[in-house]
Amino acid sequence: MAVKKELSRNKTADSYNALAPEYDVRWKGYIENTHQKLLNLLEINPSDRVLDISAGTGYLAKYLQKNGWEFDQFVLNDISSEMLGKAQEKVGSDGRYGFTEYRAEQMGFESNSFDRVISMNAFHNYSDQGAVIREVYRVLKPGGSFYMLDWNKQGFFRPVNYLINVFTTETIQTVSLGEAEKLLRLYGFCIHQKDYWYYRYWNLFLICATKPV
Ligand SMILES: C[S@@+](CC[C@H](N)C(=O)[O-])C[C@H]1O[C@@H](n2cnc3c(N)ncnc32)[C@H](O)[C@@H]1O
Repeated sequence: MAVKKELSRNKTADSYNALAPEYDVRWKGYIENTHQKLLNLLEINPSDRVLDISAGTGYLAKYLQKNGWEFDQFVLNDISSEMLGKAQEKVGSDGRYGFTEYRAEQMGFESNSFDRVISMNAFHNYSDQGAVIREVYRVLKPGGSFYMLDWNKQGFFRPVNYLINVFTTETIQTVSLGEAEKLLRLYGFCIHQKDYWYYRYWNLFLICATKPV
């Protein structure tokens, strides 16, 4: 089982390493739609330490920089070095940004060290989703927020998800909004806000969950 998970993780990283040069162009409309939804909800204070656990090519980090959002530190984490390389090119030498390549399931950050943690369009890729939620809970400060946006395995999206799974090599384990809420509660989070919508044939959800004080 452990060997299968390891292979699957490498395939996911390999798949995104190969996709990195064209990711922003190929998925432009999808990225803009999902990030706009997050930005409508996202709250960041000037003293906040923010962690994006699967930052990809850094669309969010660049948006915040370009639009003058204030924060203390923003860490971009991802298992794909090529995706992170694109992110580094985008934000340049701005010292508020840091880069790490941990698996979201086990990250080398201190406990209670971030005010906001974000996972955008990546939850379906995690081979151990419970471990990721536990890890996010560990690194968040009490009172901190976790923003989780991903595919919503409900209704018409079920067969779409099946086809994506057949035609891609990366890990695909999509959950529904209800299943995501259940998992978050199981690991101690309180659900603060939630939303769901369609973008073309994608069924999506966004949850803002908090770690109790
Ligand atoms: C669809 S991309 C989303 C990137 C970015 N958040 C966005 O919305 O444009 C999914 C990202 O999750 C990363 N990823 C997949 N599994 C991961 C894991 N276990 N730990 C950290 N990152 C992971 C991939 O390398 C990829 O960059």
